[in-house]
Amino acid sequence: MTIQTQGQSWRAIGLMSGTSLDGIDAAWLQTDGERIIQFGPAATLLYEDDMRADLRRLLDLAPRIGTDDPFLRAVEQRLTRDHALAVGLTGQGADIIGFHGQTILHQPEHHRTWQIGDAALLARLARIPVVHDFRAADVAAGGQGAPLAPIFHAALAANLPKPLLIVNIGGVANITFLGEDGEIIACDTGPGNGPLDDLAQKYLGTPYDKDGAFAASGRVNPVRLAALLAHPYFAAPPPKSLDRLTFSALIAQATANLSPEDAAATLAAFSATAITAVPLPALPQQVLVSGGGRHNATLMRLLRQAFDVPVHKVEAVGWHGDALEAQCFAFLAVRSLRGLPLSLPGTTGVPRPLTGGRYQRVIL
Ligand SMILES: Nc1ncnc2c1ncn2[C@@H]1O[C@H](COP(=O)(O)OP(=O)(O)O)[C@@H](O)[C@H]1O
Ligand SMILES: [Mg+2]
Repeated sequence: MTIQTQGQSWRAIGLMSGTSLDGIDAAWLQTDGERIIQFGPAATLLYEDDMRADLRRLLDLAPRIGTDDPFLRAVEQRLTRDHALAVGLTGQGADIIGFHGQTILHQPEHHRTWQIGDAALLARLARIPVVHDFRAADVAAGGQGAPLAPIFHAALAANLPKPLLIVNIGGVANITFLGEDGEIIACDTGPGNGPLDDLAQKYLGTPYDKDGAFAASGRVNPVRLAALLAHPYFAAPPPKSLDRLTFSALIAQATANLSPEDAAATLAAFSATAITAVPLPALPQQVLVSGGGRHNATLMRLLRQAFDVPVHKVEAVGWHGDALEAQCFAFLAVRSLRGLPLSLPGTTGVPRPLTGGRYQRVIL
């Protein structure tokens, strides 16, 4: 569906459930799909522990199950109901919802990426039309299907000095480089919080390493760190993207027989080094960090040590670091309605700027 109107804007609610499996971010935004007209309320609905465990199990099962698997369908229904609750948490009406869903499998090399979520159910529960399935068209056309934040980052940063680097640290970390001449380069850099979250769950019984204290209590093992960074992913040029579990086997090997503290320190260094090692076409004026990883003081310290330029949380320029990805899918929903590109050759490797997303009307 394509809507072409002059000067029209939409009230959109974006929903993001990232690879960290921590919960659902919801954010309200008014936009015409090119400019951000107004930010609105944002909220996070944290998953119940058993739901997080079910999602974690689904990531492992995804390569082996079909779309009609009963366990998958049950988790998808619960996930969708939780998303409807998250819409309500914003306390705002909207014209459109951008529903990312939960990625349970990401294999762009096989033209496959899989986000679960029942768009028809969400539209019915929220009584608002939904745009969903944002990544499928891109991977079908040979793109990476990720990251999708760069065009939103460019709109957000329209008036900021360039070159600029934006780093988002979720379960997986991704960067957007914005050049002086409008150039946009992006990729997933490697793991973000994911491996540390798994370690914290295992040894601390907590879903994440609060403020990075666990990682700060250990010492980086340089040999193991080098082994992690020897993975061929890091030598490949952007665009490139990752599955949450790409490094699982390697990480298990590289942390074997380390104390939990040293394993945490080494995994934090792994994520930070993977971010700072991506070659950039020019030195950015500053680095802006979004996503839950910016709350991890150890990761932030490592980024500050490695970058030669100032590193700030995105709040320094007035953005909302926990809502940015949800705002992104509000923005992309409107771009989808307008038939505007969601991805570019420089962001996902898609052969030409490409729109995407599917429209789901309300069926009561
Ligand atoms: N206070 C904190 N200290 C350390 N890490 C944190 C803190 N708050 C959140 N995080 C990290 O942020 C993650 C969630 O970040 P988020 O941006 O939602 O990622 P995703 O998009 O993958 O869901 C958590 O899993 C955790 O690792
Ligand atoms: Mg999250």
